[in-house]
Amino acid sequence: MPTELPESAAPPPTEAGESSPAPSRRTFIATTAVGGAVVAGGVIGGTILADSHEANAAGAPPSSQVSLTVNGKRRTVTVDNRTSLLDLLREHFDLTGSKKGCNAGACGACTVLVDGRRVNSCLTLAVRLEGAEVTTIEGLAEGDELHPLQKAFIEQDAFQCGYCTPGQIMSGVGCIEEGHTGSSEEIREWMSGNICRCGCYVKIVRAVEQTAGRK
Ligand code: FES
Ligand code: FES
Repeated sequence: MPTELPESAAPPPTEAGESSPAPSRRTFIATTAVGGAVVAGGVIGGTILADSHEANAAGAPPSSQVSLTVNGKRRTVTVDNRTSLLDLLREHFDLTGSKKGCNAGACGACTVLVDGRRVNSCLTLAVRLEGAEVTTIEGLAEGDELHPLQKAFIEQDAFQCGYCTPGQIMSGVGCIEEGHTGSSEEIREWMSGNICRCGCYVKIVRAVEQTAGRK
């Protein structure tokens, strides 16, 4: 019993005497799919010039090794040069307390301390931190003993959804250490890079004031 391909899968008819048949839909897709990939890898006139492994190696993004201390622990890692400190913390070190809000330096959710200074970790390249000391929200407490500002946030009920809270607390720690706590207006000014979508600003300021010893 003859077996027939369904019409859609059958090769197209060829003219008598034609040396090479017209490409079928299947061969066309296969050819162009492969061709699309090898154009980037270096094909001229259908000849592959570079071994695919070489092409991959040539196309691999540059990476670097960096050693830094995170929450008192020395870490050495090789990362893509474009990796932000935030992604290094979250993706490589599994420290997900620092949050990715805007990923563009506009919300403060990713705030951490680098050598005691608060920074937006989403805007900080990890490979530039050779030898740096990084403190994240996970490194504030001493065992089960919360940092005074963490306690103050709880006592003042200074959060709702909590998404901004790690960044607010790290920024508050920096604000207090910088001495920008002379008044609630001063605290608001120096915490203005930390956005709270839930609008907990009054209580956040109170928590910083409480920790700074003013209330
Ligand atoms: S996530 Fe870094 S500032 Fe918004
Ligand atoms: S507590 Fe929800 S964004 Fe600040």
